[in-house]
Amino acid sequence: MWRFLILFCFVNIHKNIYSQLVYKDSMQPIETRVQDLLKRMTLKEKILQLNQYTFGENDNPNNIGEEIKNIPADIGSLIYLNINPEIRNNIQRKAIEESRLGIPILFGFDVIHGLRTVYPIPLAQACSFNPKLITAACRMAAKEATLSGINWTFSPMVDIARDARWGRIAEGYGEDPYLSGVLGAASVKGYQSESLSNPYSIAACLKHFVGYGMSEGGRDYRPTDISKQALWETYLPPFEMGIKSGAATIMSSFNDISGIPATANHYLLNDVLKNKWNFKGFVVSDWNAIEQLTYQGVAKDRKEAAYKAFTAGLDMDMRDNAYGEFLEELIEGNKISEEQIDSAVVRILRLKFHLGLFERPYTTIVNEAERYLQKEDVKLASLLAEESMVLLKNQNKLLPLSPSVQNIAVIGPLAKNKTDLLGSWAFRGNPKDVETIYEGLEKEFGNKIRLNYALGCKKEGNDISGFEEALKVAKTSDLIILCLGEDKSWSGENASRSTIALPRIQEELLTHLKKAEKPIVLILSNGRPLELARIEPHVDAIVEIWQPGIAGGSALAGILSGRLSPSGKLSVTFPRTTGQIPIYYNMRQTARPYGNMGNYQDIQTTPLYPFGYGLSYTNFTYTNARISSNKVRKDEKLTAEVTIINTGKSSGKETVLWYIADPVCSISRPIKELKHFEKCYLLPGESCVLRFEINPYKDLSYVNSSGVRFLESGKFILYVGTEKLIFEVVE
Ligand code: GLC
Repeated sequence: MWRFLILFCFVNIHKNIYSQLVYKDSMQPIETRVQDLLKRMTLKEKILQLNQYTFGENDNPNNIGEEIKNIPADIGSLIYLNINPEIRNNIQRKAIEESRLGIPILFGFDVIHGLRTVYPIPLAQACSFNPKLITAACRMAAKEATLSGINWTFSPMVDIARDARWGRIAEGYGEDPYLSGVLGAASVKGYQSESLSNPYSIAACLKHFVGYGMSEGGRDYRPTDISKQALWETYLPPFEMGIKSGAATIMSSFNDISGIPATANHYLLNDVLKNKWNFKGFVVSDWNAIEQLTYQGVAKDRKEAAYKAFTAGLDMDMRDNAYGEFLEELIEGNKISEEQIDSAVVRILRLKFHLGLFERPYTTIVNEAERYLQKEDVKLASLLAEESMVLLKNQNKLLPLSPSVQNIAVIGPLAKNKTDLLGSWAFRGNPKDVETIYEGLEKEFGNKIRLNYALGCKKEGNDISGFEEALKVAKTSDLIILCLGEDKSWSGENASRSTIALPRIQEELLTHLKKAEKPIVLILSNGRPLELARIEPHVDAIVEIWQPGIAGGSALAGILSGRLSPSGKLSVTFPRTTGQIPIYYNMRQTARPYGNMGNYQDIQTTPLYPFGYGLSYTNFTYTNARISSNKVRKDEKLTAEVTIINTGKSSGKETVLWYIADPVCSISRPIKELKHFEKCYLLPGESCVLRFEINPYKDLSYVNSSGVRFLESGKFILYVGTEKLIFEVVE
């Protein structure tokens, strides 16, 4: 009996203690803990949760502003620009032990394509068409991030970009909504894993919501004019796919959408995101974007900017402290209510509970050697680099290099370049970790082939003093590997360029080297499609390696030697010249598709290399394409299949792209749209059958300007490789 009494007392004491602190009881449901904590918070404490300040050396030169010196212990979030987990834990300890309720801080940072183990820029990753590989890379980045004290990354960027003058084209997955959505979801899966509470999970952030890639003239931060139809058809779908994959947060974009800035866009942040899509996470502004409403002319001062952003549905203020300064005043003036504050605070607290920050507020400290650059991670970065590289030209099958080649001239400003191969948004990448193109060649060809190096010229400028030395080296070699490209600062944020051509000095170096009359393999390292009209005719082969991160050297060398087979396909169109911009594969149909109607008079209107283009060392034959029926009811499914045969002499990976066309519809539809893709590996002579199960409502419908999905009956065309299948949707 007395034992029962003791147990009964113990249970009651335990219940009693925790009943006062339900939010600290990890056995309680998260929503219960959120509500319990919320009701204990003062207005000031609530408003602090809606603010994100910075800590550490601000390494984004485009974002002015020093760190907030005296960070309040109960600030909601920090952009942690330091990545030292001990310092981060000290800041967190202040929040846990010195603040009244001990609410942990959310530490965010731009982990865009790796933290210290930097892998290819997202535009390059997209050319791999390999979602699983991208998930694995993001999972690895999340582990390095959590070990550095970061719980939230401002990634993936799923902005559709069709104007390569815009430097941020480098940071997204290219021009196609479906590809961007699939890869954005794959990145979210990598960052967040199966559960946000896993020790190496970080919260993802889909950005920049929405239409940022349409910045006028490719000039960053500029207005955009986007029709509602274009919003629903092109710019919103990748965000919807990312949200369906469970993305924890969204970042609003700097641009206005036809006059209403995204930061204060009630239709987008509230009607679409929180109501129609039932998004339960929170929206963070971009850096100082609330204050920027005054520059965009929709707020007379910071107070009105805070009011407009908050009432539009923007939950957290990144950096400009407009919320910290004015929300209390706006409540006192009955402009906003505390209930509105509560609904924003709930979203932020919810994520903190899901991340397990109340149970595990501190980062486990491991030494630096175990935190970064693990062997298997560098190998993963190399594999993603390999699958991201695109063989654009291979005249007379010059590649892979013939064993007869004994002397190679390795020339150009990117040949021994470490820094630029990292690409933009790799602030924690260290150039000393980068394997250069030259180093990759040395490892691959070692003592078999003599490498003769010459710089030739810098990336830009007028200094041609290196030309003669380069020509001499070229003349004594069997073949030239010419490494041209961009400085990493020429793409990324605030990196708009009026032309996508390389600096003239690089083109002049090529012209000079032609005098050697040797075959030229052009290697391009860049963060955007380039204008190659004056370059392409004068080289025998072109390999686009993009900005491959730390492990591109061996990947490229393996492709050149034939140890690896190139498998990348372009995620974005390469125009012939800048003047063709915008140009992308899924344009709507022209009114005059015949003759030379509507084409340029001075150049070919087709692009130099279209979306989905990429050569291989082997040949893949598409045959025996068929469809389960040539008529399908709207509520039925259809299965299409195609046989792929490797009819070449070497093994290779082939990405099979399935496109749908709807030639007649209530509104004009794109010429074709990517709806499914799959990558396969085949040995010489091997074949495989790949299938696409068509769900008419998902794959054949379109969304109108009100966001309502429509499926119309009628004829549809399915394109896969060289095959074309026609079928009909019937009522
Ligand atoms: C920048 C970028 C955004 C980034 C944020 C934090 O200005 O627009 O993509 O995540 O600020 O660095």
